[in-house]
Amino acid sequence: MLNKVFDKDVAMTEFGISSPESVLGFTNRNVPPYISALIPERNPDYVFQTQQLGIMSIWWEAAPDEPLFISGPHGSGKTSFVNQFCARVGAPVVSLTARSRLDRTDLIGHYIIDKDKTMRFVDGPLTRAWRHGMVLLINEMSAAPADLWLSVNELLEGAPLFIEATGEVVKKHPRARIVMTDNIRGMTDDGNGLYLGRHLQDPAVMDRCWKLRMEYIDEESETALLESRIPDVEVHGIELPVWKKQFAQRLCAAANKVREAYFGSHDVQPIEATISTRVLLRLKDLLIISGRTKELSVKDALNWALRIALTEAVDKTSALTIQKIVEAELGNICSHLAAP
Ligand SMILES: Nc1ncnc2c1ncn2[C@@H]1O[C@H](COP(=O)(O)OP(=O)(O)O)[C@@H](O)[C@H]1O
Ligand SMILES: [Mg+2]
Repeated sequence: MLNKVFDKDVAMTEFGISSPESVLGFTNRNVPPYISALIPERNPDYVFQTQQLGIMSIWWEAAPDEPLFISGPHGSGKTSFVNQFCARVGAPVVSLTARSRLDRTDLIGHYIIDKDKTMRFVDGPLTRAWRHGMVLLINEMSAAPADLWLSVNELLEGAPLFIEATGEVVKKHPRARIVMTDNIRGMTDDGNGLYLGRHLQDPAVMDRCWKLRMEYIDEESETALLESRIPDVEVHGIELPVWKKQFAQRLCAAANKVREAYFGSHDVQPIEATISTRVLLRLKDLLIISGRTKELSVKDALNWALRIALTEAVDKTSALTIQKIVEAELGNICSHLAAP
């Protein structure tokens, strides 16, 4: 079903999902380079979760005038999910990260003084999305105060944009879309109060959005992701593919134990930091570096990597808990690494 907005079918296999279905996208023929340059670069290793991709695809095809709100823990892949979806459907993305002093002019635009001393109006990200038909990606939306989003409420619904400074009215391009991501759920803070400086949002704003919840990817996919990102290093006493698989499996098992401790359970005190997919990928690289440095014992090499990847910025008790979990799960797997 192609319509006047979309002009292409993108197979689900493009997203790494084996399904005969497809999602609508753009061919981008006749699109000027300053717009096509904003189509994100495709990362072939990005792992899509079937459920989240399903919701995204329905929203994409069915709700052009409603924003999508994606919540989920930090480093769970919210921002990259949007960029990687857009890379595959061929949608240009203009992004910004919210902050407490963000105001309407940061979204809509402002005058600058040009080299020849004339005043010129420069479109903000919302205006660019409206004018040229781009996806406006607002990261960490609750870092901005609730009244900012309330002040652009009618735009969230796809209304024309009136630029007070120039008197221009910009009608929403049929391809313009809004996606917001956040660590908190919008109207509640997930109960543990771990995100500082966040503003609870107005129900009138949240009411207008489709909601998508992102969690860390499942253990099997995360293991496959890690495995695909391990370089061909030299190992002894074990075949390299076997080592890669075991190393990835043990790292993911460790990450999942740490995440359980972070979210807490009735009998354990929650710890204050967790291992996101982002941290896990970094830890993997650091473990390979330290494991190949033969001056360090296995334990010291692990701790060096863990401190740099995560725990140097974490309270002592949490750091120790994380260290114990990772040590127990990894065992002596890094001792197979040969010196470079
Ligand atoms: N599903 C995934 N597939 C591949 N890489 C991922 C995935 N989720 C997270 N990552 C990795 O973690 C990093 C952080 O993800 P990001 O999208 O910035 O998270 P968030 O916006 O939720 O904080 C990405 O750059 C990517 O390397
Ligand atoms: Mg993000």
